[in-house]
Amino acid sequence: MEAIVLENISKRFGTVRANREISLVIHKGGIHAIVGENGAGKSTLTKIIYGMLSPDSGRMTLMGRPVRLSSPRQAIQAGIGMVHQHFMLIPDLTVAENIMLGDERSRIFAPLGIENTARNIAGVAEEHGMHIDPFARVGDLSVGEEQRVEILKLLYRNAEILILDEPTAVLTPTEVSQLFDALRSLRAAGKTVILITHKLDEVLRVSDTVSVMRRGRMVATRPTPEVTKSDLAQLMVGRNVLLRVRNPPETPGRTVLEVRGLTCRDARGGTRLSNLSFHIRAGEIYGIAGVEGNGQSELLSLLWGMRDEGMICSGSALLDGVSLLGKTPAEIGSLGVSHIPEDRLRHGVVPAYTISENMIFGRHREKMFHRFAGFDTNGVDDYTREMVRRYDIRCDTEADPPLSGLSGGNQQKVVLAREIGRPGLKLLMLAQPTRGVDIGAIETIHRKILETRDRGIAMLLVSAELDEIVALSSRIGCLYKGTIRHEFSTGEIREGRSREQEFQKEIGLHIT
Ligand SMILES: Nc1ncnc2c1ncn2[C@@H]1O[C@H](COP(=O)(O)OP(=O)(O)OP(=O)(O)O)[C@@H](O)[C@H]1O
Ligand SMILES: [Mg+2]
Repeated sequence: MEAIVLENISKRFGTVRANREISLVIHKGGIHAIVGENGAGKSTLTKIIYGMLSPDSGRMTLMGRPVRLSSPRQAIQAGIGMVHQHFMLIPDLTVAENIMLGDERSRIFAPLGIENTARNIAGVAEEHGMHIDPFARVGDLSVGEEQRVEILKLLYRNAEILILDEPTAVLTPTEVSQLFDALRSLRAAGKTVILITHKLDEVLRVSDTVSVMRRGRMVATRPTPEVTKSDLAQLMVGRNVLLRVRNPPETPGRTVLEVRGLTCRDARGGTRLSNLSFHIRAGEIYGIAGVEGNGQSELLSLLWGMRDEGMICSGSALLDGVSLLGKTPAEIGSLGVSHIPEDRLRHGVVPAYTISENMIFGRHREKMFHRFAGFDTNGVDDYTREMVRRYDIRCDTEADPPLSGLSGGNQQKVVLAREIGRPGLKLLMLAQPTRGVDIGAIETIHRKILETRDRGIAMLLVSAELDEIVALSSRIGCLYKGTIRHEFSTGEIREGRSREQEFQKEIGLHIT
């Protein structure tokens, strides 16, 4: 049976044709993946299905009946739910309270007490293998658990069709497996799942059907068993994609960053970093591997001059012999250090500013953007156009729209272009540089990172993608409980089996 039928759906934003005459059938009781490059129109299409956006033209049929949904509220009533990439939960409330919040029936159920509802929620959760304590405070949950709450919230509202927009980007490998088990269980119960992801391995692992979008159009829909990873890559990008970029050997120079015996305790006395030591040379990429939450964000914040209130640190971090600890971000920046933060929407960009404003954000004093006594707007525009071309940022440069009008992956490319382009750069710190980025763009970004390395810049790469760390870094430190006990050279990992196993054991992960 057909859960959703879309016919000739089109949607424009100004001159951008985000969805162009899209026709698609989504079968009930299946997991339907949607893939496509950044800006292809995936989020737009699912927001139309969910009633968040209304199409300029086209028709939608839901379980055999024509519908016109003009708000998420209507979509929920019709049995469609969506989990957004940024969760919308209230940290101070419990799981059960969050799930009940905003649901009209909660008032009817209230006399039965929250205890009852909580038991129901726990029952539904167990049924689909999603372990969760309904009385836990949402603020204390891991990202994976928060996502479970979002899914349970939809099930509690009797959603028959669940839309998940890039749900795995923020999950650890174990959490991804748990999510997929839950999705399979929902499918067995007759629910329909629409899944957007950039990870083609995941598409092959979990979906029954896969649709490919390219530049606003739906270019193919196939049963998943009939396609390979490279078929999908080819359909998405329209050319062959190198699934692993060629990495020529580096020629490292002097030591640029030297971290020695770094130890940090938070305000509550908990150890966040413990006697951490490593060094990075010019023209070398040092990778930090490990499960998130083992000190990655503390290390990066500290090197960037941001320290949580009450954090007490000892040890040293020297850039060309100059101490970074205790300096402000501005001072550190003027020494030739730059970084790409993990949470780019919060720290990397100003969504309401235009692309060119974001492109020079924090760099506006540089000589290249000035002419005579004034600001050179033409120069800035030329520079932006050049970066948009080099990084293949999909946008309308003539209109120079606010950054919020760019798709997620394209916003990411703006931050990268800006930070890699800084003059006088000595050390670049990258946190999850390709999260949410499509495979074609990953190739571009990896090539840019290697080019930057070969300009003699020292780089610190923190990534949850083990493949990415192995592909780019020359040495890898495994961060566990705030310290690096073992360091591997990538050559070692690629060559000897035993070392590879040792490496995997060290960080508790598997190389795919
Ligand atoms: N609110 C908006 N205003 C202007 N343009 C928009 C808006 N939302 C999306 N667009 C444009 O529509 C196109 C499709 O965007 P969409 O977010 O659907 O892409 P996507 O396939 O989800 O990409 P990504 O993988 O990067 O998330 C892009 O060119 C984007 O710039
Ligand atoms: Mg999107």
